[in-house]
Amino acid sequence: MTVYKSLIITIGIITASILSNSAQALDAAGLYRERACIACHGEEGRVPVMAEYPKIAGQNAPYILAQMKDIKSGVRNNTHAVAMKNMMHLISDEEMAIVAEWLAELPK
Ligand code: HEC
Repeated sequence: MTVYKSLIITIGIITASILSNSAQALDAAGLYRERACIACHGEEGRVPVMAEYPKIAGQNAPYILAQMKDIKSGVRNNTHAVAMKNMMHLISDEEMAIVAEWLAELPK
């Protein structure tokens, strides 16, 4: 009886952690679409709409986050960064961190 009980609890914990992991992945992918990143950087950060725009998939997460923050704040400011800056009011710092982690795990 106790063996069954702990088995059921274990299965429950595993199921819950699988579900929360996929929810996290969906959130990041959803944010990437909804916050308009996809419009310029393309599907999963690999297909930029213009040759002058960067591919961002598979880059280091801290670097991705730092660049997003610098473009949002205007510290990184050049001809092309301006296009992105104009869209960055759509995304919060917390959401940027989630998207950065997700992009870093994607294949280049
Ligand atoms: C309007 C187009 C546009 C949108 C929308 C946009 N970006 Fe960008 N992004 C750019 C351009 C252009 C650059 C390169 C700027 C430059 O030349 O310095 C850039 C640069 C970056 C970089 C730095 C890449 C590097 O190698 O230094 C990251 C990371 C990035 N974008 C992520 C995002 C994320 C995440 C989103 C969504 C929240 C987003 N961008 C939305 C156009 C856009």
